[in-house]
Amino acid sequence: MKSNRSIYWIVAILGWCIGNSCNKGSSPTPNTTTYFPKVKAIVSDNCLSCHSSTGSWTGRPTAFDSDSAIAANANIIKTAVAGPWTFFVKQMPQRSTLSASDITTIETWVSKGGKTTD
Ligand code: HEC
Repeated sequence: MKSNRSIYWIVAILGWCIGNSCNKGSSPTPNTTTYFPKVKAIVSDNCLSCHSSTGSWTGRPTAFDSDSAIAANANIIKTAVAGPWTFFVKQMPQRSTLSASDITTIETWVSKGGKTTD
């Protein structure tokens, strides 16, 4: 039963760490990373084949081929990749999904404000 006991200790220490965010200082460091360039690359790799003025879905109101268009659609882009999906905003890319890290990048960008400077 010795090994079982050490597992309890590891869980307890981990729990304490997470609870305290393993934080030595008291003030959280502000997130100064700019996510927009990464978001733009994700959109151009995964969405522009359809969502651009020359894409296969021309005529759709949602073209993401300029910085301002991506920023203006920040919230529906996030919903499209991360959910919750609705009748109006379907899961994107169609019949597929982005990697978890790409989804996190988009969610973090939107939570910072979803602008081209965020
Ligand atoms: C294979 C083509 C294709 C790709 C790739 C694609 N989409 Fe779409 N997207 C569509 C189509 C078609 C619709 C309309 C779906 C419907 O209404 O049934 C749509 C709808 C949407 C909508 C809902 C708003 C609207 O105009 O209906 C959003 C937001 C969206 N897509 C975002 C994205 C994002 C973000 C990506 C990349 C991560 C992406 N899409 C990739 C084809 C695509």
